[in-house]
Amino acid sequence: MELRTSSPGETEAFGRRLGEMLEPGDVVCLSGPLGAGKTCLARGILGGTGATGPVSSPTFVIIHEHPGRVPAYHIDAYRLECQDDAAALGLEEYLPGEGVSVVEWPENIPDFIPPDALWVRLERLPGDGPDRRSLAVSATGPRSERLLEELSQR
Ligand SMILES: Nc1ncnc2c1ncn2[C@@H]1O[C@H](COP(=O)(O)OP(=O)(O)OP(=O)(O)O)[C@@H](O)[C@H]1O
Ligand SMILES: [Mg+2]
Repeated sequence: MELRTSSPGETEAFGRRLGEMLEPGDVVCLSGPLGAGKTCLARGILGGTGATGPVSSPTFVIIHEHPGRVPAYHIDAYRLECQDDAAALGLEEYLPGEGVSVVEWPENIPDFIPPDALWVRLERLPGDGPDRRSLAVSATGPRSERLLEELSQR
């Protein structure tokens, strides 16, 4: 599934729809270059899980926990230099965890990403204006396939 958005608000709204469908144990990986809109999308997803409070880039903290309809964990692996750091932080407890986990820079921690995860690849659309983004959504297992199907029917 691929969609295009024209503003941060549209990206966030898509995230919210996805977040509303998520259940404990679901893992959503957000990939794409710096400034592509991963945190913006994460804000929407976390909002959809009922999370309250601000969603910022957890660059220095690595893991932010958000209570809500289901607990949600916002993980940013950008600063992790190696997977040993991820192990030291106990990231495996969140992947999957007792809540929803949203991961930025998942490619930095490949060994920690569960086999069944929903992936969103965000990219700028050069030439289409500064606020245009493409969001390519894919699934890697039965649960994420189901989410993807539900998402494309909405
Ligand atoms: N359609 C859009 N969707 C999402 N963000 C957009 C869009 N158009 C413009 N933006 C802007 O792009 C920026 C995206 O920043 P954001 O922090 O979400 O990116 P990121 O992928 O998380 O970056 P990083 O790799 O540094 O974590 C924001 O300033 C946002 O306002
Ligand atoms: Mg970010």
